[in-house]
Amino acid sequence: MKRMSKTVLGAGAVLALAAAVSCGGGDGGSTAISPEARAEAEKLFATKCAACHGVNGDGTGPGAAGLNPKPRNYHDKAWQASTTDEEIEKAIVYGGAAVGKSPQMASNPELQSKPEVVRALREKVREFGRK
Ligand code: HEC
Repeated sequence: MKRMSKTVLGAGAVLALAAAVSCGGGDGGSTAISPEARAEAEKLFATKCAACHGVNGDGTGPGAAGLNPKPRNYHDKAWQASTTDEEIEKAIVYGGAAVGKSPQMASNPELQSKPEVVRALREKVREFGRK
């Protein structure tokens, strides 16, 4: 008898833990992004991404001229609708080739350890699509 109640208690604890994890965890990818991560993303965009994607995200940065296919124009609403947050983040960290796109879209492996900065960059890409 004693044994059995222990088992039941154990299962209850596991359930409670699972519930706590699922409540505290993901909220659909919009987990809070710190101001520091946003600032780093802004800086990164201006110094790296804008060279090809343009400061306005329209794909006409100085480095775009020699590229084929051209860098993504983030204002392209059809593209925004067709892609997922996951794909955008994957392209940013692992490069275009990782999502079946041009390898000219370089990878940024140093961002593997900075998921918050990646999310901030992805939000920035999404924001261009709303303008
Ligand atoms: C050397 C030029 C270059 C730089 C620098 C660059 N990109 Fe790109 N990027 C491209 C090109 C070219 C494509 C288009 C690939 C294609 O359509 O095949 C692209 C595509 C993308 C896409 C779309 C991927 C998809 O699934 O359609 C995203 C998002 C993106 N870049 C984000 C970024 C961000 C953020 C940075 C800065 C960290 C960055 N890029 C830096 C050239 C560049």
